[in-house]
Amino acid sequence: MKLSDVAREYGYNFDNLKRYNEMFGDKLPRFLESNEKENKDSIRVNTIKISKNELFTRLIEKDFVLKDVNDFGFIIEESKFSISSTVENLLGYFYIQGVAEMIVSPILSPDANDFVIDMCAAPGGKTTHLSSIMENKGVIYAFDINKRRLSALKNNISRLGCLNIAVFNLNGEEITKVNDKPDKILLDAPCTGSGIIRKDSLRKTLRTIHDVIFLSEIQKKLLKSAIDSLKEDGTILYTTCSLEPEENEFVIQWALDNFDIKLLKIDSDVNGIPLENGFTEIFGRKLSDEISLCKRTLPHVHDTNGLFMAKITKS
Ligand SMILES: C[S@@+](CC[C@H](N)C(=O)[O-])C[C@H]1O[C@@H](n2cnc3c(N)ncnc32)[C@H](O)[C@@H]1O
Repeated sequence: MKLSDVAREYGYNFDNLKRYNEMFGDKLPRFLESNEKENKDSIRVNTIKISKNELFTRLIEKDFVLKDVNDFGFIIEESKFSISSTVENLLGYFYIQGVAEMIVSPILSPDANDFVIDMCAAPGGKTTHLSSIMENKGVIYAFDINKRRLSALKNNISRLGCLNIAVFNLNGEEITKVNDKPDKILLDAPCTGSGIIRKDSLRKTLRTIHDVIFLSEIQKKLLKSAIDSLKEDGTILYTTCSLEPEENEFVIQWALDNFDIKLLKIDSDVNGIPLENGFTEIFGRKLSDEISLCKRTLPHVHDTNGLFMAKITKS
């Protein structure tokens, strides 16, 4: 079948499909089919309030069929009603979060003494996870530029009982104005979101290469501010839910070329499946071998949203 016919059949704009064909080659059919699937609901246990075992027991008593996916949570395999309508949700015993998204905060691995800044925090899935990993101790500053999204962030922080997070309605670039240098920085950057086509099929057509380029400039500005602010031996985790190399590997290559940084190894997996390496050669560009330390989750490999992660320190 011609690519233009494939694009029409699956509802992608042709230019986007051509790019995915170059990125995934003979895996393209699996990628396209996989994006037609819906993610099942999954929940991350909020260990500030309840243990994984206790939550499991409470939910199976209500006839939820749960699959253990990782140390952090469960997939809802079957249920008589929505997990969001449970009293356990109201009580903040869990956060509804994608299986791939659950592995992000543990990769930054903050401890209870750390000062952490989450530069783009709303609605708070990863910030509240950082808080529970830090056992509700240490200090987290959660920034977001969008005032409207801050109310969701504040509600989630309060529902989950996180006491170590201070919320600021700020542009992430203002991180450079904070007096103390953070030990850890999470930069979950604004992006085109092409990794979450399963959740929002409009992303097959809505965003073009112009959006990709526009956002990559914002991503670079945010990453520069993060690097300028980081403590000498600190760590940044750069992540997006975009598939596009211009928002991911190319941003990290730009940072490697312009700042004294290096990439750290990311040891993680999704349900036992190893993460994919970042592209070191794509769209006619040859990147540093080090870029293979960046990791991706992919819909057709991990049965999740497509995320990108790079763990950075100063060299
Ligand atoms: C990918 S979402 C963050 C999701 C969040 N980390 C979570 O796990 O729930 C990106 C966020 O960046 C915010 N944002 C966009 N540009 C920003 C900027 N320059 N500074 C700070 N936040 C920004 C958006 O309002 C949005 O809430």
